Amino acid sequence: MKFERKDILGIKELSVDEINLILETAESFLEISTRKIKKVPILRGKTIINLFYEASTRTRTSFEIAGKRLSADTINISASTSSVVKGETLIDTARNLEAMNPDVIVIRHSASGAPHLLARLVKQSIINAGDGAHEHPTQALLDMMTIKEHKGKIAGLNVAIIGDIEHSRVARSNIYGLSKMGANVVLAGPATMLPRDIEQMGVKVYNKIEDAIEGVDVIMMLRIQLERQKQCIFPSLREYSQHYCLNRNNIKLAKKDVIVMHPGPINRGVEISPDIADDPSCSVILDQVNKGVAVRMALLYLLTGGGE
Ligand code: CP
Repeated sequence: MKFERKDILGIKELSVDEINLILETAESFLEISTRKIKKVPILRGKTIINLFYEASTRTRTSFEIAGKRLSADTINISASTSSVVKGETLIDTARNLEAMNPDVIVIRHSASGAPHLLARLVKQSIINAGDGAHEHPTQALLDMMTIKEHKGKIAGLNVAIIGDIEHSRVARSNIYGLSKMGANVVLAGPATMLPRDIEQMGVKVYNKIEDAIEGVDVIMMLRIQLERQKQCIFPSLREYSQHYCLNRNNIKLAKKDVIVMHPGPINRGVEISPDIADDPSCSVILDQVNKGVAVRMALLYLLTGGGE
């Protein structure tokens, strides 16, 4: 199958075949990161710009590493150290970057739809590295790759996503992706962190973490997205953790071989207890980060004509 898309804007628009192609391509790239010399010449002569209007550790670093491992030239731009601080608009920034002829622009922005605007505006491929509370497609792809490796499949698995669903682009992309791939997705969080009508996405919703994680194969914990909350929607972090923290006690309700995921950054003791986050018998959190490099290598490769 040939990958026909110019851009990666969200999981919502990807087909099952496209997701499978991305995951299979990423699997074939995993091994490069274990070599003594972690570099192949596949994207030599290509230029990737990482344009980040929001903070990032994992996504930005792994896009940079992914580009470099494929021998592309990668350039990082942070809004805080660019001409954005002098008042330059997103559109003008994009047009100026376009004039320098890169091949791919990776963008993270606090506004939902910012990558979609760029995709319409410039001829280069655009990858959404997280737009507001809308989507984080590359996170969902690396999450699906991690689940597939640990469970051997995605279809038929029961996956619980717990926490601040309302403000989470990770939750939205994973609901689209996991449902398309045949998993059963359940959610739990305080009522103020659950979007109205979320059931219309084909998920079951609970208020208690205990009800959601009973018998599941995968638990995905989410950080409270304080940066996206316009008002205080929970009494205190202490109260939140009393009700929604995954810990040694409530995890017993899940399947014995449950895996625990978190997109990071973790707030230890708030949504996940440190002993669970660091327990190699269930936590796959750092493995998710490892898969992130391979997934981003695959996307850069496929969008620049790889596999043709
Ligand atoms: N998971 C994730 O997007 O992490 P960063 O914000 O560090 O990129």
